[in-house]
Amino acid sequence: MQRDNLEVLIGADRIHERIRELAAQISNDYRGRHVCLVGILKGSWVFLADLIRSLDLEVSVSFLGVASYGKGTKPSGEVKITLDLDDSIEGKDVLVVEDILDTGETFRYLQGVLGAHQPRTLRSVVLLDKPARRTQPVHADYVGFTIPDAFVVGYGLDFAQKYRNLPDVCVLHPEQPKA
Ligand code: IMP
Repeated sequence: MQRDNLEVLIGADRIHERIRELAAQISNDYRGRHVCLVGILKGSWVFLADLIRSLDLEVSVSFLGVASYGKGTKPSGEVKITLDLDDSIEGKDVLVVEDILDTGETFRYLQGVLGAHQPRTLRSVVLLDKPARRTQPVHADYVGFTIPDAFVVGYGLDFAQKYRNLPDVCVLHPEQPKA
């Protein structure tokens, strides 16, 4: 595997430590309630898999597939659903699980789509928050790490479908054109 242009930003140990902290906070906030986790594919599934195992709650899991990026590192400006929910979230306590909050376009779109299903509550947890590039007035209820304006991969996040399997969150430095 090519790792030449990758620089570790958040190591696996720190990620797992922070997820345990987030899970403790979420378990406390939702104590005694059944929480319906909605994982946003594809980027969130590694995070969701670790988060769910640290939650001290009764939970169910659904997935919603969205695509907002093409093959590059810039947003396509368009969000579309690639996989719909397989279960009703009406009247439920829904916690949306996202990999990264960047411009906020996807998030705003999701709030509209999921809000239309009339959940009892709708909150969100993101592993990474990149506030420097925000164009929409949105925020997550639970944030793992606030990161600088860089394109990151690993721990579920991809570049053109690559690097999701890296255990760390890494900055992907663009390849320098050959002289
Ligand atoms: P937003 O709509 O700009 O907030 O982008 C949200 C989605 O874009 C995320 O769920 C990711 O799939 C993708 N994305 C944004 N920034 C990055 C990044 O740095 N690396 C990989 N994917 C990203």
